[in-house]
Amino acid sequence: MNRRKFLKIAGTTSVIVAAGAGGFAFTRTPHKALAPWNLDQSAYRDPMRRALSYAILAPNPHNRQPWVIDLKSGTEAVLTCDLDRLLPETDPFSRQIVIGLGCFLELFTLAASDNGYRSEIALFPEGEDQNHLDTRPIAHLKLVEDNQLVKNDLFDLALNRHTNRNGYDVSREIDQSILERVETSAQPGVIAGTTGSGETLEELRALTRNALREEIMDPAAFQESVDLMRIGRSEIETNPDGISLGGPFLEALSIAGVLNREELADPASKSFQIGLDMADTSAMSAMGFVWISTTANTRRDQIVAGHSYMRVALEVARQGLEMQPMSQALQEYAAMESYYQRVHEMLGSQPNERIQMLARLGYADAVNPAPRWALSTRIKQV
Ligand SMILES: Cc1cc2nc3c(=O)[nH]c(=O)nc-3n(C[C@H](O)[C@H](O)[C@H](O)COP(=O)(O)O)c2cc1C
Repeated sequence: MNRRKFLKIAGTTSVIVAAGAGGFAFTRTPHKALAPWNLDQSAYRDPMRRALSYAILAPNPHNRQPWVIDLKSGTEAVLTCDLDRLLPETDPFSRQIVIGLGCFLELFTLAASDNGYRSEIALFPEGEDQNHLDTRPIAHLKLVEDNQLVKNDLFDLALNRHTNRNGYDVSREIDQSILERVETSAQPGVIAGTTGSGETLEELRALTRNALREEIMDPAAFQESVDLMRIGRSEIETNPDGISLGGPFLEALSIAGVLNREELADPASKSFQIGLDMADTSAMSAMGFVWISTTANTRRDQIVAGHSYMRVALEVARQGLEMQPMSQALQEYAAMESYYQRVHEMLGSQPNERIQMLARLGYADAVNPAPRWALSTRIKQV
């Protein structure tokens, strides 16, 4: 780092210290972008809005939140995908976007059931294309009051589940019994597997690290991520989606002019190097992995994989574990081909079987929730 930049950071840091670090941290919290996590149930009188207010908290690739809801009544709606929120470089067939919509539908179902409503979901009522998403609905949603429903206590974890990208505690192994509970929380229709030790763990650490490094080194793929980075509170509040780089430290670097999109994308920059180091730390500190496969790769398989990923993520939260998908090796663009082949071989996939999700597991300090667009902004206006 050159002297001028160093002085700028030192200057910015002293201003923050003078203002009181706690005060700075508070003023830099994107309160509006996090508001969807503070659910005020009294605000939603109808069961559809209530269930949807949870569904928008589902995990989804690059936090694109591609859901658009056409509300028909307090118990009926149509879910479509916002085609401006796809990830054409790293998700060319929108497979991962559809998995995210599956997570949304699972959280919707659990939330509705918690409120005494059975959800009837008709998938792709006007048909679907396996290669490209279009304007046709993803699902028709209907809620039916049902006092026979048995509540699923996984739902209690809905507000505690977060993707944790920190390094995990390498001194803390995961009990086999916990891995078994995580594995069996997947739903019928998928094949779930876990590992917490031995050669498979070692090989998956190295494979996910190398695939992530490869993605960072691939200019087009990495630019897609860089374009979606929201640096500092103001950008996060304006666009509460994508990859948020917030918090007092990163904000100070951004104010100092050291952290910006050009630097992040420049292989010669310090920020780029930090990105590569973070890839190493995250992959190599994995203390376990969980994966979800399907026997084919239709749109319905992807939705089913999303339902299971949502349940697995809630079970992981219940067990006090942390998790982060490591999706690069599963992606369908040229640079990932050899990783894709290898991971399927390594995990013993049958010829048509497809690994839809692969995530690392471990113990770590908790993280803050990721921003969300308010539900009202995702409802189609007529
Ligand atoms: C299909 C899918 C793929 C994902 N792949 C990755 C990934 O490779 N790396 C990562 O850090 N997060 C990944 N995520 C997690 C999302 O980035 C995360 O859900 C989103 O940013 C919202 O944050 P939250 O899960 O904390 O609510 C993936 C999520 C889904 C559903």
